[in-house]
Amino acid sequence: MSALLDYLAALRGSVLDEVSGGQIPPMSKLTGARSDHLAIAVCLGDGEVMSVGTRHEFAIQSISKAFGYAAALDHRGEDHVLNRVDVEPTGEVFNAVSLNLDTGRPKNPLINIGAIRIHAMLGTSPRERRERLHEAMCRAAGRDLEVHADTLEAEMEDADRNLALAHMLRAAGQMAEDAHDVVEGYVRGCSTLVTAEDLSVMAATLSSGGVNPKTGERVFSRRAAKLTMSVMMTCGMYDDAGDWMTDVGLPAKSGVGGGILAALPPKLGFATFSPSLDEHGNPVRGTACFDRMSRDFALHML
Ligand code: DON
Repeated sequence: MSALLDYLAALRGSVLDEVSGGQIPPMSKLTGARSDHLAIAVCLGDGEVMSVGTRHEFAIQSISKAFGYAAALDHRGEDHVLNRVDVEPTGEVFNAVSLNLDTGRPKNPLINIGAIRIHAMLGTSPRERRERLHEAMCRAAGRDLEVHADTLEAEMEDADRNLALAHMLRAAGQMAEDAHDVVEGYVRGCSTLVTAEDLSVMAATLSSGGVNPKTGERVFSRRAAKLTMSVMMTCGMYDDAGDWMTDVGLPAKSGVGGGILAALPPKLGFATFSPSLDEHGNPVRGTACFDRMSRDFALHML
């Protein structure tokens, strides 16, 4: 196994030397993210985690959308969820003000409007919704995760666009829940702190069919894990999803906090943390690490 650690350390060094660019969003600076932060973690089938680089905690941001989706599928059932949120890629930015006016269904659960609609399905009260999402993420990571109060506060101060999306859903007759409550719950999920190691375990929980390989606990049904990875394949990297599938070839999800996780069934989970983002909102150095790992280990699913 030390050969894998040696490989990861060499990869991290060369990506730090050779790849730069992008911007750190102001929100990430609240968690102390710096441009020289780079972590790579791999969770193996037996739950062992190999990692190099910073153990820095950062906001999970949009990666929480995948876990909200899996939790909603198990809580409400596939028909209920798919009837209300579609699974089609948009090719648009993650916070696009878009709604399919023919069906009233957001195009997928990994853009903001879809994730907000999914969040509303997680329970009948704000507390039940927030706890169901939090519990799903903690069980997938195999430890108690904390919500970063400063990130949550800043996200809520800057929530006009997400509130607009929630009000659009209500105006289209697609969501009965209070817009502010749902956005607060969704943003609270985004403000949860994780490390790259946590994300690798969360990815391995999906790739292992919903069972956390570290704790042995079933977190999601096999079907929910499969549907979640399916939508990660087509929509996980936003308007860069096509390039990502071509180059890396793994179901993945990025977040503006700097994390990327990728799942390789039947068992493996990969994650990176690097806070500078490209024009799509995807982490620049993390993407470079995945490009190289995919090539070096032939990880592409096809
Ligand atoms: O809703 C938002 O705008 C953020 N809290 C999450 C955005 C995010 O991570 C998009 N990802 N790349």
